[in-house]
Amino acid sequence: HFYENILLERHGRVGVITLNRPKALNALNFATMQDVVGAATQLDADPEIGAIVITGSERAFAAGADIKEMSTMSYMDMYLKDWFAGWDTLAAVRTPVIAAVSGHALGGGCELALICDFIIASDTATFGQPEIKLGVIPGMGGSQRLTRAVGKAKAMEMILTGRTIDAVEAERIGLVARIVPATDLLADALATAADIAAKSAPIAMLAKEVVNAAYESMLSGGIHLERRLFHSVFATDDQSEGMAAFIEKRPPVFTNR
Ligand code: HXC
Repeated sequence: HFYENILLERHGRVGVITLNRPKALNALNFATMQDVVGAATQLDADPEIGAIVITGSERAFAAGADIKEMSTMSYMDMYLKDWFAGWDTLAAVRTPVIAAVSGHALGGGCELALICDFIIASDTATFGQPEIKLGVIPGMGGSQRLTRAVGKAKAMEMILTGRTIDAVEAERIGLVARIVPATDLLADALATAADIAAKSAPIAMLAKEVVNAAYESMLSGGIHLERRLFHSVFATDDQSEGMAAFIEKRPPVFTNR
């Protein structure tokens, strides 16, 4: 495979995808999405590969989706090309994927980092969802993944103001797993990926899947499950006993029935 917008390397059992559009600060145009998704799919299918690192340059992980490419597009252009839907394929990769982020991770760049399983940031990394300043909203999953990662208050603030945060704040709010000095970023990400790749690949895939089940399952599904289980406790003797004991002002005698 030849990829125009990325570099693809293998370091032992680790595959490394490096975004490589320096003139545009790695802005994610459609062709770059196809390259990243194609390379990740290729690595995912390779039994020799146990982890993937996605990185950019020192100056920019990615400064967003490509504004120049999108600026004159219409609703129908977006809809018919199902713009950004290709990223779903990256999210579905079973091999663990680490984002190694230095410099700008803005808009689609921040969202790409969030598609990865976790982020290792250099101390120079900055994150933001500046779409609102362009008259648009996040379109690569940011509204959902950022909110799950950092909670409503921070996600709302970032998405409504477009404010950029530094690596320290990103770590404090749980957006990134760890900060390392910029000069160590790639070595650290590679070592972390090699550590994962040394584990059982199918177990790592299962671990990724089950964490994603917690991350991805809808709150309404969890609330529904909770309510049904809550209803079911009213089929137990211990519920009757516990509540009766409270009303009768005596300690309960539970029978595990
Ligand atoms: C296209 C981009 C770009 C982008 C930078 N460039 N970001 N091109 N899409 N997202 C280009 C610039 O136009 C410029 O090209 C070159 O990269 C270098 O950028 P500069 O602005 O000259 O660099 P600097 O002054 O260092 O500023 C860096 C920056 C700034 C702060 C990151 O480039 C910036 O604000 N970029 C846009 C960030 C952004 O809004 N991202 C969100 C995009 S929307 P020339 O040809 O002039 O040298 C998005 C949401 C998707 O991702 C969903 C909505 C549909």
